[in-house]
Amino acid sequence: MNLLEGKKGIIFGALNDMSIAWKTAETCHRMGADIVLTNAPVAMRMGEIHKLAEQCGNAPVIPADATSVEDLKALFEGAMDHFGGKVDFVLHSIGMSPNVRKGKHYTGLNYNYLEKTLDVSAISLHKTLQTAMELDAISEWGSVVGLSYIAAQRTFPDYGDMADAKSLLESIARSFGYHYGVKNKVRINTISQSPTVTTAGSGVKGFDEFVSYSEAMSPLGNADGQACADYCATLFSDLTRYVTMQNLFHDGGFSHTGVSMEVISKFAKEEGA
Ligand code: NAI
Repeated sequence: MNLLEGKKGIIFGALNDMSIAWKTAETCHRMGADIVLTNAPVAMRMGEIHKLAEQCGNAPVIPADATSVEDLKALFEGAMDHFGGKVDFVLHSIGMSPNVRKGKHYTGLNYNYLEKTLDVSAISLHKTLQTAMELDAISEWGSVVGLSYIAAQRTFPDYGDMADAKSLLESIARSFGYHYGVKNKVRINTISQSPTVTTAGSGVKGFDEFVSYSEAMSPLGNADGQACADYCATLFSDLTRYVTMQNLFHDGGFSHTGVSMEVISKFAKEEGA
């Protein structure tokens, strides 16, 4: 399927082959896109991203800390050099909370860590978009996608300050989506993805139980990383040109299910026992 033939995109956040960004890069390449890969310099020490680059037609890898405007500027300039023109799509697949990593409870946050959480996981989207706009780096009808989680709308106690980061991320997508839409018809959306077994996902306490609960609550079951990659590709394509400023649930129906028979029957058994 050549849905993305001729499109040029930057993909942030491919750490290893479990990463949603890794699967999205493979999928976009398979669908005909030309890709530039990027990640934080520290994340590249493992060197796995170079394997992905090879698989994606020797895609250039340009390191960038997404909290550094200077790095982002060099990234967009390098990508435009490589493409010989503007960028058609960007995947922002970045998340990290030092509070969650260090097991800090939501009611006992370290505020320096909180600033880092918000900067890395949300404000980096604003920095990416502002840098792109200043350089006029994204083509008309271009598409930017960020990855979110339903903890932005409903409370999941162990998700900690990442919930606040996701709320901010979705808000930035909406607010910048307005301005970039008016200025250059660039669309900006977030995908709210099912819990997915990746390095970032597994950092959340009780993650396995979380995945099982979500699976039992979703009529279609959890959406996996590959399904998320496929959904990203549709948003990068011309088939979704008028979708912008949205938070799009990609979760097998979880977000609109009050309770499932599978979960109810579990309680019935426990009461009967
Ligand atoms: P991952 O751990 O493979 O990807 C997270 C990426 O963020 C890594 O590649 C990491 O190097 C990058 N990153 C961290 N700090 C950075 C910085 N300063 N600059 C540039 N990159 C930086 O995990 P996953 O799950 O693929 O995460 C991708 C996105 O999907 C994140 O936004 C995450 O919150 C979101 N998401 C994940 C879910 C899950 O259950 N795994 C569910 C819903 C959303």
